[in-house]
Formats: sequence, C-alpha cells, structure tokens
Amino acid sequence: MALAHDTKEMRQVLLHEGSRQLDYEIRNIVKKAEELEALGQKIYWENIGDPILKNATIPDWIKEILHGLVDDDLTYGYCHSKGVLGTREYVAKKNNEKAGVQITADDVLFFNGLGDAIGKLYQFLNPHSRVIGPSPAYSTHSALEAAHSNKEPLTYNLDPENHWYPDLEDLRLKVKYNPSIVGILIINPDNPTGMVYPVEVLTEIVEIAREFNLFLVSDEIYTNIIYNGVETKSLSQVLGDVPGIAMKGISKDTPWPGSRCGWMEFYNRDADPDFNNYCATMENAKMVEVCSTTLPQKALPLIQEHPSFQPYLAQRRQEVSERSKVISSRLEDISYINFNPTNGAFYNTIVFKDGVINNNQFLEIDDAKLKAKAEDWVENVSSPDKRFVYYLLAAKGVCVVPLSSFQSELLGFRITLLEEDIEVLDQTFSKIADAINEFCTSDKEVEAVMS
Ligand SMILES: Cc1ncc(COP(=O)(O)O)c(C=O)c1O
Repeated sequence: MALAHDTKEMRQVLLHEGSRQLDYEIRNIVKKAEELEALGQKIYWENIGDPILKNATIPDWIKEILHGLVDDDLTYGYCHSKGVLGTREYVAKKNNEKAGVQITADDVLFFNGLGDAIGKLYQFLNPHSRVIGPSPAYSTHSALEAAHSNKEPLTYNLDPENHWYPDLEDLRLKVKYNPSIVGILIINPDNPTGMVYPVEVLTEIVEIAREFNLFLVSDEIYTNIIYNGVETKSLSQVLGDVPGIAMKGISKDTPWPGSRCGWMEFYNRDADPDFNNYCATMENAKMVEVCSTTLPQKALPLIQEHPSFQPYLAQRRQEVSERSKVISSRLEDISYINFNPTNGAFYNTIVFKDGVINNNQFLEIDDAKLKAKAEDWVENVSSPDKRFVYYLLAAKGVCVVPLSSFQSELLGFRITLLEEDIEVLDQTFSKIADAINEFCTSDKEVEAVMS
C-alpha cells in the first residue's frame, strides 16, 4: 500500500550554501536545444568544447597504442595515488626541458580530468581565502571557487577593447584592497575568449603575486592549441620563486575528453610551508580516493612521444587557425558587436556594443511551435544576451552560451571553433551574423542610435 507523502521538513538543512553557485549554463542550454530538436529543428551545436562531439577523428596510431594497453593486465589495476610513476616522471621532464622552475615526479598529481582537479583546488582552501580569476570566467573555476567560499566569484576583467588582455590595474587594485585574496588564476590560452596571455602580462601578474605573497594557478589545458603565430610562456617559465600550480590535461589536444585525465604540477612548494601543506592536502585527498584512472595515464607518454604526435598537433592547430579566419570573415565587420579574432583554444566570445541589445528585440520565426517556445523562454529572462541566445536557438537552430553566464557584466555569447566541416562552419556563422543584424535592427530606436 502506498504511503501518503507528508511535507515534514528534513531534520537539518541539507545543502551547503555554496551549492547555489553550481548552475552550469553550458549544459543547461542543451535541454532547450533538445526540446527544439524534438520539434524537428536542426541544431548547430556551438555550446561545448568537446572536439569529439564535433566529429574530430582519432588517428589510427593513437588507437593502436590503446589496443596495446588494453592487452596488458597491468592497465586494469590501481596506480600510485599520485599517478603512474613513469608518467609523472615524463611530465616532470617535459616541464624541466623548458628551463623554468624545475620539478620531480613528486610534484605531479594526477586527477580524473581537470574538472576533478579544479574541484580539489578550491575544496580544501579555507573559505575565507579566495582565488581571483578572469571575467568572463570559465564556470568550472568560478563556480567551484565561489562554492568553497559561500560568496560570489571574485574576478578581474579581461578587456574586449584591448584584445581581451587582462586589465592589470583592475587586478592590482582588487588584490591590494581585498586581503582575503590568496591566489590569482590565469587560464592560458583562455576559455571563453580564446585570448593568449602575452609574456609581459604574465610577468606583471607574477610581480603582483610576489608583492602580495600570493600563489598563482595557471590552467594550461589549451597549451598545445595556440595558432596564428602568437607566443606565450608556461607558468613555470615566468614564475621565478613564487609558489604556483599549473593544471594540464589531455582532453583538448589529443583530444580525449572522455579519458578523464588531467594533472597538477606544483612549483616552488618549498617556498612557503602553508603552500606546501596545501599541496600535500590535495595529495592526501587523492590518496583517500585511492587514485585516478590508470589507462589514460599509461597512454599519455606513448602518445606524446610517438613520432606522429607533433605533426598531428601542428595539423590540428592549422585547422583551428583556418576556422578562426572563416569566423572572422563572417563577423569582423558587424557594427553591433565587438569582435576579437582568437589565437588560442577553440572558443571566441562575441560582445554586443553598449546599448545595442535590449529586452524588446526578437527574431522572426515562421514555425508557430518554435516561435511559442522562444516566446515562452524569453518571458522571464532579464538579461538581453540570454534573450538573443534563445531566439538564435529557436530561429536559426544555433546553440551558443550567453556571456552573462560567464560571470561577466558584458552582454554577448560564446561560440566554438570546433566545426570540422568548413562549409557547415561558414553556414553556422552566416546564420549567427544574420541573427545579430536582424535582432539588433528589430528595435528601431537602437537602429537610430547606431546610424
Ligand atoms: C579552461 C578549462 N579547464 C579545464 C577544463 C576541464 O577539462 P577536463 O576535460 O580535463 O575535465 C576545461 C574544459 O572545457 C577548460 O576549458
């Protein structure tokens, strides 16, 4: 017999207050796109950085390496809690060849993807100790940092008027006047802007960290995806004696996001006992969990030392560079937006100029059911870039992520440079270009301001 549900409250509040911070629009938008797909709308997925979903093919030589590992019984066991020793030695050697801060295998800690590493990075920090990161923000960092502290994320501005480079004055002042800040995050190359930090900017950020006794974190998951001739440096090459953590992984370059394999490299951990304890705590946390997945760790040096790896990476960079040019040619002349070409990673963030979008604008949609969906979604939306994104999805089938979901006061959206088929890419960005123009001109007052 079914018992009637009563509405008694739980004995205590179940959720940590910081759980409010865990909204992830990059995946939320998928639910809306799926509703439209069910109504017959073709969707152009521009919302997530998974090359495999966008039909990247894995070369046979990588598959052969994995076949070999699958045949080896040792692949099926736990590994050392910090990660497979040979692989940690390998990544330490690769870092040391860059002639910056030197490390050993003991300074390397493997995780089940960088997402797992990012979680651990903030989870064990004192809630009053904060890490300031870039805005627009990659939500996994900003949401998890905010969740650890029960507060809103702390950010420094990347400036769309200056190639998305960090506003160093803004960073310095925020660090200076907020004593709770203990660390600075950089994401180089950056998600969501595709910006690559120039070496002089990195050097200045190191100086701020040195002056205020902070540690630095550099998420370098896109380090092998830099193109269009720009140059940067890894954290270990600019850090000097400042404590730092680099975060690296194989999700984007190999690309193998489903491997769930990423790692931290601890630099100068002896420079400060507190920092050393912080690193040791993350190691202990991994020990308590036992270890991270063995197979991808065993594959990593075999893949990266294979003679085809470097030419393969060069070809992938070339392809992303070509896509960046197709996108530029479609968007760079639109007067309603601020467009910065990308040089790294595979995202671009498009910003609407001040005052050009508002909550009166719309896109024409012929299909009554699609139109009803769009109108329903935008009814309670306060941020006009979300409104644009929902209309773009319903009217043109293009699924992007609104910039207001990236801890930014700017209005815009993030796109990816992952579409493998150049014709589909061009078609997608021609739809986006049309949508921007149609949306902005749907309010005659805005048109008058622009002309
Ligand atoms: C900047 C950045 N860091 C970390 C990650 C997470 O990577 P992983 O697949 O290793 O969890 C991503 C994924 O998109 C990312 O963009």
